[in-house]
Amino acid sequence: MNTAPLTSATPDDLPRPSPGRTLHGRLPEDFLWGVATSSYQIEGAAAEDGRGASVWDTFCRVPGAVADGDTGDVACDHYHRMPEDVALIAGLGVDAYRFSIAWPRIQPDGRGRVEPRGLAFYDRLVDELLAHGVAPWITLYHWDLPQTLEDLGGWPERDTAHRFADYAALVHDALGDRVQYWTTLNEPWCSSFLGYAEGVHAPGRRDMNDALAAAHHLLLGHGLAAARLREAARGPMTLGVTLNLADHVAASASPADLAALRRADGLYNRVFLDPLLRGSYPQDLLDDLSGRGLRVPVRDGDLETISRPLDVLGVNYYNHHAFAADPVTADEPTYHAGTRFVEVDGERTAMGWPVQPEGLTRLLLRLGREYPGTPLVVTENGSAYHDPRTVPADGRVRDERRVAYLDDHLEALARAVEGGADVRGYFAWSLMDNFEWAEGYRSRFGLVHVDYATQRRTLKDSALWYRRLLSER
Ligand code: FCB
Repeated sequence: MNTAPLTSATPDDLPRPSPGRTLHGRLPEDFLWGVATSSYQIEGAAAEDGRGASVWDTFCRVPGAVADGDTGDVACDHYHRMPEDVALIAGLGVDAYRFSIAWPRIQPDGRGRVEPRGLAFYDRLVDELLAHGVAPWITLYHWDLPQTLEDLGGWPERDTAHRFADYAALVHDALGDRVQYWTTLNEPWCSSFLGYAEGVHAPGRRDMNDALAAAHHLLLGHGLAAARLREAARGPMTLGVTLNLADHVAASASPADLAALRRADGLYNRVFLDPLLRGSYPQDLLDDLSGRGLRVPVRDGDLETISRPLDVLGVNYYNHHAFAADPVTADEPTYHAGTRFVEVDGERTAMGWPVQPEGLTRLLLRLGREYPGTPLVVTENGSAYHDPRTVPADGRVRDERRVAYLDDHLEALARAVEGGADVRGYFAWSLMDNFEWAEGYRSRFGLVHVDYATQRRTLKDSALWYRRLLSER
């Protein structure tokens, strides 16, 4: 076996939680603890068992699109090592494992023909998890759109939403008898704005109207898929969608910077939160957009479909930004028009992302206050650091900064719960080092180290720390 023994004792010198901190007892009794991954980031086996190409396969081949020319062709080779990885997950003592299904494994062309070998893989994964006492938490879409659908127009085409609902229904047909937790989309903000406005994620297009259409059709796809899953549900179902949200701040208290913050909050957070949880797009956002010749292609009935009640809102939290006004770009038909980032002081991760645990407390409290009645689960939170490429001779990956990051963010979460936020679970991003999109393999987010030359997995100190935290419940 290519894995460090799971029974390895917990080293004595592992960092303890900061003095005076305890988590257990401050969180709900049935709080769900987990780790998360996504299909393209870990599976590899890109051309196996009939899998079709996704927009990420294509994007990775565009010169300069991904750091070091990396691709997900092999990634963590999870497709071939799944049982070993499930044992690793179970060994951490988590309640649940959040993973995503690769649409092009199930429908190589994004519609029509179903590939039974693709479905069979996830069928085995679900059974393996259940046999280890780990609840499967499925994300139906974590960015790997079948390339055939992109060739037909991608998410800016309304038809893609219907194709997504069909795909969701057929995955549920196959796995719904055993899986309670379903997330339709992961971070539609990235799929739409990074993918279709900024061009830094697949499919690498740059047109703000296309991006707005993509955002709306992702939401519509969520609503259509959610309705199909509800109809088909035979047992308990916890159904939701995951957004990346941030507690942005204004660079100063000037009216211009406060207006920039409002605009940024509109296009990062409220553009998804409001349709989902209030059944309308924010009027100030629509006004800003129309002033720049931009529009969201909403049809009658869409918002009803999108805003059917959720059992859970998944929140991915990493950091936030400070925004200042940028009069020069104010009228441009672009994503960042009228706003610019202002560097904030403080510690940063290897992604250059500032470490801001207090923002998580504020974000969760805000969601409870402004969008009450929907339980929250943190479906991703974590940090990349420059961990060594190979494991040191003593077998320890001493990632104490990642431990501190987790410790501080869990403390921030507990404070939000004490302040009244209805938070029901937490998933660390990520189970293991993996393909970090446009950053390739440079950024290591894992609790588990992956040596890409040998595919050997080694629990970092953060994994040992997390395992101890969960065992002390
Ligand atoms: C989120 C993604 C996830 C991972 C983390 C670091 O935006 O959902 O796949 O890349 O960031």
